Amino acid sequence: MSNENKKNGSIPAIDAGSVKLAQKQSYDALIQGNSNWVATRVKEDPEYFTKLAKGQSPEVLWIGCSDSRVPANEVTGTKPGEVFVHRNIANVCVHSDMNMLSVLDYAVNVLKVKHIIVAGHYGCGGVAAALSNKQFGLIDNWLRHIKDVYRLHSHELDRITDETQKINRLVELNVSEQVYNLCKTSIVQNAWMERADLQVHGWIVNLNSGLIKDLGVTSSSPNNLGYVYELNSVETIAEH
Ligand code: CO
Repeated sequence: MSNENKKNGSIPAIDAGSVKLAQKQSYDALIQGNSNWVATRVKEDPEYFTKLAKGQSPEVLWIGCSDSRVPANEVTGTKPGEVFVHRNIANVCVHSDMNMLSVLDYAVNVLKVKHIIVAGHYGCGGVAAALSNKQFGLIDNWLRHIKDVYRLHSHELDRITDETQKINRLVELNVSEQVYNLCKTSIVQNAWMERADLQVHGWIVNLNSGLIKDLGVTSSSPNNLGYVYELNSVETIAEH
């Protein structure tokens, strides 16, 4: 940018033209992509959208990373209507996050999902950032939840010298902790008091292979919550 342009705060004319054209093309590609998708669906099943519009009854709640490479439906080979989705940076489940809690409450109590899946992925940029001492701005407040996971497991993590392996192990530990966090919520615990068909799972998506690794931390009861996290029913509290 020339000094003249800097002074005026304007973008150089030649660059502005090509930048705007590229921007228009990428935008138009989305609209065209939608058109193509609709045409394909209707060709396969003329009633596709009529049926889809009638309602949803997904059996799965996916809580995953916002990373563009881990879309819930594609990764699990499912279709629209089959997975209720919540995503944020590094798939963190914080008990003060009204957004996550609202999604969880709706999924568990209205949709009556049978599986809640916390899905992390190896090479997660959010987890890598949390492992560093660099400042990234506002997001540092969010990433601090992952730094807390690191502190809980620093004994194990500090022994890993390879940086990639350390990040990937923290990716796994982060998912396990978020599964635990979900199980601590009154939403999940109250559902367990009412029904036996709700499970919380921890998965890692391997971006190199596309394959899912089940971490084997599935919970379907409050039995292993321990400490002060296991909640009595509301009725029990009222008796005191
Ligand atoms: Co990520």
